[in-house]
Order: sequence, then structure tokens, then C-alpha cells
Amino acid sequence: MYDGGPDLGRNDECWCGSGKKYKKCHAELDQRLQALYDSGEEVPERALLKTAEDIEGIKRSAAVNVGALDYVASRIGPGVTTEDIDRWVHDYTVEHGAVPAPLDYEGFPKSVCTSANEVVCHGIPSPDEVLREGDIVNVDCSTILDGYYSDSSRMFLIGDVPPAKADLVRVAKEAMEKGLEAVRPWGHLGDVGAAVNAYAREHGYSVVREFGGHGIGLEFHEDPFVSFVAREGTGDVLVPGLCFTIEPMVNMGKARIDMSDPNGWTVRTHDGKPTAQWEVQIVITEDGYELLSW
Ligand code: MF3
Ligand code: CO
Repeated sequence: MYDGGPDLGRNDECWCGSGKKYKKCHAELDQRLQALYDSGEEVPERALLKTAEDIEGIKRSAAVNVGALDYVASRIGPGVTTEDIDRWVHDYTVEHGAVPAPLDYEGFPKSVCTSANEVVCHGIPSPDEVLREGDIVNVDCSTILDGYYSDSSRMFLIGDVPPAKADLVRVAKEAMEKGLEAVRPWGHLGDVGAAVNAYAREHGYSVVREFGGHGIGLEFHEDPFVSFVAREGTGDVLVPGLCFTIEPMVNMGKARIDMSDPNGWTVRTHDGKPTAQWEVQIVITEDGYELLSW
């Protein structure tokens, strides 16, 4: 079997916890996965495929995550510090019975990532960082509720933003949407990255190679890694139940990044030019995908 899968009789109870007989539940899917594996395709491990119960849990977590970002959207503006954003996200999340996933994650010191202007990702909120008219900032919010993870991020324009930066933010969002449009159940993960990359390059931008999306749901970062510089027709087969993020980082200048910040987290563009990122979380369904967090 492709992942040491179940040795079940057709009348046994399905492995997924539905309580149904295997033959009425996941037997057909397992056969299809096995056939794909045998033909040399990259097939996600069954443990990555979310059950209906998992998806319900992830949706409850995502409701808090989306609510926290909506709360930020309603308050952000010139004069706000990134520390303010951290406090808003922390308090909103905790008041809704959830835990901010970034806090203490591999030593990350805050509850949200705030990445302004030339910061590509993993910016650490600070009371010394005041958002000013003309800034662009990504707020990347991740939530754990009852053990289920959700993760999405949005860009915010602070006051009037120069057209070149506003265009970057818009095109980065459209690039993420091109990735969504490329999602096909039983298609390939590489189709998503290829669509994102083609669109960004058409607009004269570049896409960061070192960071990408990720599987998510029962852990913060699960397989697969989602590259946004991938080639069509490559990578994992998009099996229903696979849950992952689409979160390309689009640079105005060159793709190269600078990871030399002594804090060990803040990632910048190497050329110092602005960068933008939007992140959504989806699950593959029988006939497309469902948006879980945005
Ligand atoms: N939210 C980020 C992502 O989209 C991960 C941040 S890790 C942290 O994958 F520790 F910096 F929070
Ligand atoms: Co993410």
C-alpha cells in the first residue's frame, strides 16, 4: 500500500471513524489512491486527509481566525503600532476560547506576524513600530481551537499608499486567486504554484522560493510544502480531504530574500523593495475546494 494503509475487510468498519462499513465509505478512495501510487504519482499520506469531523473542527477554529482578522481590519490605520495589532489578535483569540498558534511556536515571541513594506514574512510585532501613511503590512493570523489549526493572512494599506505599492498588493491578491482557480480535485499541487508564479511574473514581479504554503489542520505545519514556483503537473495529487494554505509572497523586485536578522525570524527582501502576501486555507472536496480561512 502507498502508506501502509488499512488491512480491512469490505464489511469492517471504515478507518475514518464514520461508523460506516469500509465498502460504503473509503474503500473506493483507497483503491484509487493505490492505483495512482502504483502509476508513480505522488499521493498524500492518508493521515493528511481530513475527515468530515476534522473539517468541522477546522471550520470552528477558522471562524475565530477570520474574526480576529476582521477585528484588525476594523481598527488598523496610521499611528497604530504592530504591538497594538498583536494585543488585538491575542485578546480576541483568547476571548473566543482559542489560542494564538504563533505564540511560543518554535520560540516565536508574539501572537501574530506583522510584516510591513520590505518584510517578507515572520515580522515580530513591536511597540516601536508605528504604522504610517503609505505603509503596506501583512497581518498573518493563526489559531488553535480544540486542537484544530487555522491560518490566513491579509494585506492592509495604511492611509494613502503610493500606486506602485498598492498595485503590488492587488496583484499579490490576484496571484493567490489564480492559484485557487487552478485547484482541481485529482489535479496536482504544482498546478497551483505554476498559476501563481505565471501571473506574478506577467506583472513584472517575482515570487519567493524558500517559503510557501503548507498542509494544516491537526498541526500548524503539515505536509505537503506548497511551492509557488512549481511546475504544472508536478507534486502531490490533490486528493479530496487534503487541507493546505495558498500564501505566495510576491516581491516588487528580485525574489532573493535576506534571513540575516539577529532575531532569527524577520525575513526581508534582499533588494529592500516592497513585498506582499495574502494567505487562504482550503480543503479539497469531491468537486472543487472549500475556502476555510481567509
Ligand atoms: N503563519 C505563518 C504561516 O503562514 C507561520 C508563522 S510561524 C510563526 O505559515 F512562528 F512565525 F508564527
Ligand atoms: Co501559513
